[in-house]
Amino acid sequence: MRSMDQQQTLIELFAQDEGRVDWLSGGVSGLWFDWSKTHLTKERVEQGIARLHASSLTERRNGLFTGEAVNLTEGRAAEHTAERGEGEAESVQRAKALHNRMRGLIEAIEAGIMGEIRHVLHVGIGGSALGPDLLIDALGRDSGRYDIAIVSNVDGAALKEAFARFDPNKTLLAIASKTFTTTETMLNAESALAWMAEAGVSDPHGRVIALTANPQKAFDWGVDDTRILPFSETVGGRYSLWSSIGFPAAIALGWAGFEELLEGAAEMDRHFRLTDADKNWPILAAIADQHYAQDRGCQTRAVFAYDERLRLLPSYLQQLEMESNGKGVKVDGSRVDGHSAPITWGGVGTDAQHAVFQLLHQGTHVMPIEFLACIEPGHELDDAHHSQLLGNCFAQGAALMAGKAHQDPARSYPGDRPSATILLDRLDPRTLGALIAFYEHRTFVNAVFLGINPFDQFGVELGKEMAKAIESGDMEFDASTKALLARAGL
Ligand code: F6P
Repeated sequence: MRSMDQQQTLIELFAQDEGRVDWLSGGVSGLWFDWSKTHLTKERVEQGIARLHASSLTERRNGLFTGEAVNLTEGRAAEHTAERGEGEAESVQRAKALHNRMRGLIEAIEAGIMGEIRHVLHVGIGGSALGPDLLIDALGRDSGRYDIAIVSNVDGAALKEAFARFDPNKTLLAIASKTFTTTETMLNAESALAWMAEAGVSDPHGRVIALTANPQKAFDWGVDDTRILPFSETVGGRYSLWSSIGFPAAIALGWAGFEELLEGAAEMDRHFRLTDADKNWPILAAIADQHYAQDRGCQTRAVFAYDERLRLLPSYLQQLEMESNGKGVKVDGSRVDGHSAPITWGGVGTDAQHAVFQLLHQGTHVMPIEFLACIEPGHELDDAHHSQLLGNCFAQGAALMAGKAHQDPARSYPGDRPSATILLDRLDPRTLGALIAFYEHRTFVNAVFLGINPFDQFGVELGKEMAKAIESGDMEFDASTKALLARAGL
């Protein structure tokens, strides 16, 4: 049943509570969170915290940080925080040792052990591509150290683009795959080797490094032991950019930059682990998420980065949130009540204002919106660029909330549309690390609310099986699929 305050508009909530901005804003590690333009109230926050306690948040969070088998369906731990130094002591030690191995190989590459390397061709997909891609696009634009391409799609057009840009004699091929069995990645790796061989590279295998939790498979595939950078099986694919999967970022930003990324994430880990729930940003954000998804039936959440360097954040978050929490069954086997994770989508501001914001302001779907922006610009052009960018970002949040009455209904805005804002002091490895870790922990808290395991992804398997069956030709398909296969000559 809805309590009274659930009916109140954002404007009413602001009018009643002068301290609203204070208690619904706060800073951690160079990030400023403002959730005051959401419908969170003190009552709703208290209820959310009580539900989380009843759902054993404290125990589940402790389990996450102490290496318990929190990934229950697969019977293993989820130790991405150990990669940044926050976790069970032995796992932290192991992660450090593997990071040192990566650092050593990077230094050797820089010293010329693989010949002259100017280009890094990283092949991987899903969690083995989205994180590195985000990091390179956000932080590596001016690094100039290496030209890096992250190729994920099995569509040859993706590889072809990288081949056109790169000199095969100066290219390092990084094969990123936790399992080292993902068909798209393995085919892309084979094609990249063939491209090198055709160009006369004498030992293409000598230009390969492997980033994987399955070193034996990489070795069997032909990667020399000294160029395999393993990471732990307990690090999930979509949580793996902190491990050797982050190799392209480590080589592009330099080791100090990679360590800052880890340290920023570790600061957020400590915030999540140690801060009281009513001042804990992953928890507060998840309480708002659940309010919109469950109480108000919002089926999507939109994220708009008012910063060109963060344009890949929405795609990164799509995997993190939808692959983690897009589940219909709880850990106890019962059905999830209400909606699972909302559909995460978004774009970059101000571009999106001229494309999809019409629906946000006047459409019949109401959804929570998230704005991100950086106080410091990422360029030296005229200040007007950045002040317009930030002004637009803040104007959108204000307009969505305030709305505007007009005698012509087509020109009126209903308002009361919620948004949250994350303002970064500046975009650097530390703040980006903290930001990504914030989203990881918020996803975890949402999973606790839903009673699900965020660390498996069985939902992706059936499609893979069917794709294999199409290749082997040993499955009887439905009439529509058969007709499509025949038409395409498969
Ligand atoms: O198909 C989904 C998935 O298993 C993701 O969870 C993972 O990030 C991606 O495929 C790639 O897997 P791998 O790193 O093993 O190649």
